[in-house]
Parts: sequence; C-alpha cells; structure tokens
Amino acid sequence: MTEPYLTQPIDEQSARAVSDAGLRLAIVDTSDDAAFDEWIRADFRGFHSEHPKPELLAEARGYLRDRRTTAVYDDAIPDAGRTSPVGTVNSWIAPLTVPAGATVDSWAISSVTVAPTHRRRGVARALLGGELRTAKALGVPVAVLTVSESVIYGRWGFGPATSATGWRVDTKRVRWAGGETTGRLSFTQPDAYRQTAYDVLNRVMAGRAGEIALSPYLADRLIGPLTGTPDADKYRLVRYDSPSGEPEGFVSYVVKDGDDFVRHTVEVTYLAAATEAAYTAIWRYLLELDLVAEVSIGVRGVDEPLPYLVSDVRGARVASVEDHLWVRILDVPAALTARRYERDGSLVLEVSDDLGFAAGRYRLSVSDGSAEVTATTDAPDVSLSVSALGSVYLGQDAARGLAVAGKLTGDAPAFDALFRTSQPPLLSTWF
Ligand SMILES: CC(C)(COP(=O)(O)OP(=O)(O)OC[C@H]1O[C@@H](n2cnc3c(N)ncnc32)[C@H](O)[C@@H]1OP(=O)(O)O)[C@@H](O)C(=O)NCCC(=O)NCCS
Repeated sequence: MTEPYLTQPIDEQSARAVSDAGLRLAIVDTSDDAAFDEWIRADFRGFHSEHPKPELLAEARGYLRDRRTTAVYDDAIPDAGRTSPVGTVNSWIAPLTVPAGATVDSWAISSVTVAPTHRRRGVARALLGGELRTAKALGVPVAVLTVSESVIYGRWGFGPATSATGWRVDTKRVRWAGGETTGRLSFTQPDAYRQTAYDVLNRVMAGRAGEIALSPYLADRLIGPLTGTPDADKYRLVRYDSPSGEPEGFVSYVVKDGDDFVRHTVEVTYLAAATEAAYTAIWRYLLELDLVAEVSIGVRGVDEPLPYLVSDVRGARVASVEDHLWVRILDVPAALTARRYERDGSLVLEVSDDLGFAAGRYRLSVSDGSAEVTATTDAPDVSLSVSALGSVYLGQDAARGLAVAGKLTGDAPAFDALFRTSQPPLLSTWF
C-alpha cells in the first residue's frame, strides 16, 4: 500500500517561490534509479561526504525509496541542470514517543541541503515551508528533525526539545562499581541478529519520550556498518540475553588502534538496552575490555547513569552536551493531548506562530494525567512562541530558562510544573 504522504502533491506556494528564483521544485520519482541517484549524490555533496560508489547508491536507493523525496533543479545549468538537484529534502511519518509512552505521528525531515553554488537565495526556506504545509495538510501534529547547525531551524518554529551527551571514559582509571551483573553476552553478526535487534530497538524507542520508531535504514546503521561506513571491517556486535534467554540489548562498536597496543580506543556506535540488567552488563563489558584505555560514546541522555557505575566519577567525563531533537508543533490540541502529564492543572496558553499553523489561545486542562485542549478567549496565564512550546513539549527542563530569557511570560512555575517530566526526554540516534 502506498503511504498517503508519498502521493501528496507538491506544495504550490513553495513551487512558486522557487520558480520566482528561476529554479524548479519537483518530487523525485524514487523508482527511477537514475533520477534518484542524482538526488542521493546531491545530498552527499551537500554534507561534504564522498562521491557515493555504485554499491552505496544501490543500498541507499533500497533504504530510502519510501521517503517523500523533493528536489530543486536549476534547469539553466549546462548538461546536468535538469537532472542534478541544487536542493534536497526528504520526509516521512515517524511515530514519536511522548511522555508516558504513547506515540504521536511526527513529520520527520532529513537531507536538507542546498548546493553552495545556490545558497542564501531562499531555497531552504521554500523547502521547509513546503514540508510544514504538507505535514499540516495531512493532519500530522508535529514535525521533527536533527540538525547540523543549531542556528537554522528556529525561524521555522522548531525548538530544541531534547539534549544529548557524549562521554569519554578512561577505562584504565575507573573500576566497575555497578554491582553484580547477570545474563549472557556473546558476539554475533548483523545479518544473523537483525530481526532480534529490531525487536530490541522497538522496545528501546517505545520506552522513552523523544525516541522515534526506526525505519530499517535507521535501525541497520546502529546494528552494523552500512556500505562505505569508515572502519566497516572493524565493527563488532555483542548481544545481551537475560538469564532466561530473553534478548534485551546489544552494543555495536569499533576498536581503534593506538600507538600503544595496550591502549586501544573503543568507539561505540550504539548501545541498546531495553532493561537495566542489559544496560549494566553491557557497560561492564565495555569498561573491562582488555587492551583498551578509552571508551567513547555519543547521544546519551543528560541523566546518563554511567557515573554511578564507576569507581572514580572523574574517569567518566562528559565530552559534549548539545541540543539534539528539534520539535515543531503544527497542531496544538492534537500534540498536547497525545502526551501525558505528571501533575494535574489548568492553564490558558497564548501561542504565537509567525507561520500561522499553531497560533491561538488554548485552555489546557489536565486531570489524572490526561489533557483536554480547547480554544478559549480567557486571559492567558502563559504566553510563548511555538518554538518555545516545542522545547518543552517532550518534558525537557526548558521552561525556567525560557522564562529567564523573556521567551515565556506569565506563570512560568505553574507551566513548568505541568510540562516537565521527572525523566528528561532523549533521542538516542540521528536521522
Ligand atoms: C543550511 C542550508 C540548507 C540553508 O540553505 P539556503 O538555501 O542557503 O537557506 P535560505 O537562503 O533559504 O535561508 C533562509 C534563512 O535561513 C538563514 N540561514 C540559512 N542557513 C543558515 C546557516 N547555516 N546559519 C545561519 N542562518 C542560516 C538565512 O540567512 C535566511 O535567513 P532569513 O530568514 O533571516 O532571511 C544550506 O546552507 C546547506 O545546505 N548547508 C549544508 C548542509 C546542512 O547543514 N543542512 C542542514 C541539515 S540539518
């Protein structure tokens, strides 16, 4: 069955804007290998990646056909103008986990690139506007993306909604302090383990606000290397099974050589743990690897429990803290009723939105953790932009900072008490 988002017509407003700039907007027919290859090449070029080889193009086509794939062409470019895009974007509908484990459909956007030869002429503005209008027309309540630069997407109403931490652990310095671990660890191969890994990943993604359901492409990148991944021949995959034989986690990683043979570095691609037992067993395994002096891992939560598992907390250092998932609310009632709340209360919210999708005054009434949202003319308790609403939507501790900055006005403590969750949201991968 063809997903409705794949057959949704091109956004006319964006097509006009691009045309006014002397360019052409088009949906790419992803069943046309030659056309799709050119789009993939443009996407790779846009992120300064390599020229994709034929096997990589074939793999990418297989994985990405089911995304809505949009291109901008400059037909005036000699030879390749009609076929080689100067702008790219793709999108699909991904269930996004919201507080207390429900999901809401989100419009996931990726591969936003504009050729350096055509930058700052409004191409990205046209592409993003088109994505948001298309999602809105399909009734998708929120749009989401992960970003190369944090300065780009606020103007389209996105707000940073999760934070991610990167870690470096000096494994010659720390000893395991996490108590007994149970279960069985064993090496496996991506092809043999793939279906089981999907099940584990589905549990992980459903278990935390901010995670999204993973397509095979997004999942396979975590399980094993895709074509062209650096150090592909050095990947290791270790699975964790509970004492009763239940698959509950895995870790994929690469061991990098150092000058000193007893001081290798482990770079973790992904650590999936559906249970605490899996989590502790896998961390213990990583920290106790012989001939290794450092383990590095990215895209963990701001509440990562690692420091509690080691004998010397300064041996496990936070190497980075960054904004990660960006959320754009398109339909306030649908978005706010999809999540649950840890406290009850009632507030009138005045939401401003330069693009108009979400603007309005809403009464949010929470009873027994579930919300009702209605339009109201009552005086607002809190006023904020749609981008600020995106930042707090998944429960992140952002309201107090937004209030200090004057980006959220009114009863900030009451708003914070309603929206914030005891567990901060996390997206543990990129898309
Ligand atoms: C980011 C990118 C897509 C922008 O494309 P573009 O067509 O040049 O952007 P536009 O001309 O439509 O710019 C729209 C607005 O965003 C601003 N903007 C765009 N890119 C920006 C950037 N990298 N930093 C700061 N502002 C930026 C523009 O100044 C403009 O601002 P305005 O609304 O105040 O006029 C393009 O520079 C690119 O491909 N970069 C490399 C790949 C990348 O990082 N993609 C994003 C992936 S998440």
